[in-house]
Amino acid sequence: MSRHNSFNWTTSTVLYSSQSISLITRGYVVTTEQIVFPEGVPESRPIWWRNTKYKSDTGIENQSKVSMDDLNGAVKSWMRFNDVLAELFSDISIGNGAQSELIHLNCSEFPSGCVLVKADHKIKTTGSIKGRGGVYEVLSYAEDILQSHGVGCRADPMALLSSEARNIFERYRIVVGSTGNLAFSVGMVGRKLGFRVEVHMSRDAKAWKKVRLRSAGVNVVEHDNDYSHAVAAARAVASSDAFTYFIDDENSVKLLVGYSAAALEISNQLEETGIRISHDNPLFVYLPCGVGGAPGGITLGLKNIFGSNVHCIFVEPVASPSMLVQLASGSVRPVNVYACGLSNETIADGLAVAQASMLVAEVVGHQIAGVATVLDDDLSEWVERMWTLAGLRLEPSGAAGFAAFARHGSVIRHSFDSSRASTNIIWTTGGSFFPDLEWASAREHGQRVLSSRPNSGG
Ligand SMILES: Cc1ncc(COP(=O)(O)O)c(C=O)c1O
Repeated sequence: MSRHNSFNWTTSTVLYSSQSISLITRGYVVTTEQIVFPEGVPESRPIWWRNTKYKSDTGIENQSKVSMDDLNGAVKSWMRFNDVLAELFSDISIGNGAQSELIHLNCSEFPSGCVLVKADHKIKTTGSIKGRGGVYEVLSYAEDILQSHGVGCRADPMALLSSEARNIFERYRIVVGSTGNLAFSVGMVGRKLGFRVEVHMSRDAKAWKKVRLRSAGVNVVEHDNDYSHAVAAARAVASSDAFTYFIDDENSVKLLVGYSAAALEISNQLEETGIRISHDNPLFVYLPCGVGGAPGGITLGLKNIFGSNVHCIFVEPVASPSMLVQLASGSVRPVNVYACGLSNETIADGLAVAQASMLVAEVVGHQIAGVATVLDDDLSEWVERMWTLAGLRLEPSGAAGFAAFARHGSVIRHSFDSSRASTNIIWTTGGSFFPDLEWASAREHGQRVLSSRPNSGG
């Protein structure tokens, strides 16, 4: 039985099977239910899809579930949280807890020569972009709990690390569903504060992440099913216990605003290096996308700062283009990748998501410039290339931005007026925690792909 047939959706979810695809018109495959998918998507071909609903110059809309106050509040909260993280992770020298450097890369491999890398794969506390949201929500929750127990901690963030706080936190449990990196971030920080943590992991989650979590005292529940199932299981566990807090990767505003603060970080870094983003020098940002929370939150933040001068490109594997399918469908109801006959099987465990976040589709959808899809072999190739070219240790999900930039970069720039200069940021989202064995096997695979590709230089 194929995977999409065995998938269990809630009654509110629209379920379409690949058999419902009936005809091809003007570049679009039309299903009998009138859901449209861009040509190439059902065939698993790597494509660039420019978002037909893209409104380049709009910010947060008034009725939005996320407000400007939320974004500004996140920046303020991160100032407190960075101090807490420095103390919490004093065993490693972390600089700024959840922040990452902006690296200038000069590679002849890229058409435009210089690209910038936002190196979230090197975030020392959690090793991935997901820490920006996960750590933010855990620390926000910890503050809320302390406040509710009459312990003021906003003026003195270090109160979060007191023994009084720890005694309180031990009574509470945090539950999360994840393909791996969100669980990892929540588990590591949650346990360090004293919370009980339970993570529900999909079949895509890597064994080494489970081993590390268990050794940190996290209760890992494994599901032989996909990401959405793991999230649903976690949600169900949390709903029956008043002392359990659920971090909802699909619907959490807290996660979204936690990620969004990265935009100010980038803005400051660009300013420091003398790069001015403007109409004549627009910014293109390549963001790997799973459920959409991390790239969605960052897009919210970037649009708020740079407006129509930034274009955020979401990058997804050809087997799991969940945000592409959702946005291209034009539907306000959930539409998943199984609907167009895709398998959701990819080596990019962090991006193996069949159903995009409806919160992100609703709040950020019109701010996403488009979606680029890439092959698994592209990911392997760029894991290997970026190691040999620049010493970047990336997991396949974390290399997706490079794969998209190399494959679609010039077409993307053309679709937004190629005559101008541009600044390109590739967001590397995870990998520095990769254990040596996994890393060796990812590289080996990358080398095989490289040597099998003509003109690859391998
Ligand atoms: C390494 C990596 N990159 C990107 C993402 C995508 O983030 P999101 O699922 O919030 O879209 C993930 C998600 O787990 C990830 O692990």
